Amino acid sequence: MNILLLGSGGREHAFAWKIVNSKKCNQLYVAPGNAGTGQIAENIPLSVTDFEGLADFVLHKKIDFVVVGPEEPLVRGIVDFFAAREDLKNIPIIGPGQIGAQLEGSKDFSKKFMERCGIPTAASQTFTKETLEEGLKFIDLQELPIVLKADGLAAGKGVLICNSYDEAKASLKEMLLESKFGSASEKVVIEQFLSGVELSVFVATDGIHYIILPEAKDYKRIGEGDTGLNTGGMGAISPVPFADKEFLEKVESRIVIPTIKGLEKQNIPYTGFLFIGLMNVNGDPYVIEYNVRMGDPETQAVLPRIKSDFVDLLYALGTKKLHQYQFETENSCTATVVMVAGGYPESYRKGDTIEGLKGIESADKSLTFHAGTQLSNSNKVLTNGGRVMAVTGIGNDPYEALKNAYNTVEKISWVNVSFRKDIGQDLLALKKD
Ligand code: AMP
Ligand code: GLY
Repeated sequence: MNILLLGSGGREHAFAWKIVNSKKCNQLYVAPGNAGTGQIAENIPLSVTDFEGLADFVLHKKIDFVVVGPEEPLVRGIVDFFAAREDLKNIPIIGPGQIGAQLEGSKDFSKKFMERCGIPTAASQTFTKETLEEGLKFIDLQELPIVLKADGLAAGKGVLICNSYDEAKASLKEMLLESKFGSASEKVVIEQFLSGVELSVFVATDGIHYIILPEAKDYKRIGEGDTGLNTGGMGAISPVPFADKEFLEKVESRIVIPTIKGLEKQNIPYTGFLFIGLMNVNGDPYVIEYNVRMGDPETQAVLPRIKSDFVDLLYALGTKKLHQYQFETENSCTATVVMVAGGYPESYRKGDTIEGLKGIESADKSLTFHAGTQLSNSNKVLTNGGRVMAVTGIGNDPYEALKNAYNTVEKISWVNVSFRKDIGQDLLALKKD
């Protein structure tokens, strides 16, 4: 099959690696891709939001199906765009339509959806400029800390955890009156703080049937010991030791099934991946957020644990035949370490030469996924973003997976490279207790 994948991060390199390893893949194109995807597939210089350009490409290259990596084209309605075009409507595009994508695109929408479906989540209320005074009074009635969330997409920065009433009130005013997060904070969700350990559960669905992919834990903060600024994600571990059978059964019965049934009942067509950010509160799962795509870097830890054919999975999603797909996972553990440019998530340099990539062997039991990279005219791999590489170690247990990941990380370098050295340590400490 000829396949078009949209995106350019580590997640997309992992998707590309899995797709080209399937016998079912004839040709893979990635728009726009990175230096890593360019080594295993053909990069196409088209933006993920250039719907007309992508449509022309799909028709010209006789693409059999399209996979969407990031949320932005989904929230902007790429799936609806394909469905509305007579010449494209029969080409499966894997991702939810614009309404379904609101599960990520609008916190208010997703909270109301969860309330309608009876899905456990933090209690909340939404406020606008017009209801600011009520919002300020609402804050006084909450326990500390108080969570404020910009309604729209805010590049992962739109959540504030406020430790005093004054801070919460000042932040609410900044968000609603001074557009702290641009139009994303025209509405603000104020919610109860949930205390516990987080994990991410991934569901693949054709809108009716679903499978639950291996779960993962992400490390969001830049600094060791979960300190410092939030990032896109600095590492991941799969499986998550505390997510035992009993906990995952609660996730399935209380969250996954009501979500899929809710989408169906409310006539929200949904194909593709659903990422459920969860908090384990004393053994009970609560939804922190939905994302309408796979996570990055969780994908780099999750996909290597899928044994059954990945192209078959994608095609089954796109053609709504997921019930005919035999899903199998590997018994392995994975650990992903993200290597970033010094300064990230604040300002950082681009264009540094990445050394050591050629010295990595398959015996290292690791996979090296590119994120922000670019090939120079002289074929050198250069840094081209904040998150530059994601290295996944594979092992029989988390210790071995981590050792294999860090062994490879040590071989790769560039000026001012930085990474967290404590990925997985919190989970291993929990396991010992
Ligand atoms: P989000 O952008 O929704 O993923 O939120 C970013 C981060 O804020 C999450 O990964 C959590 O660590 C934290 N967070 C969000 N909502 C809550 C909540 N209700 N209680 C505690 N922490 C939260
Ligand atoms: N790693 C978190 C995310 O992809 O949103």
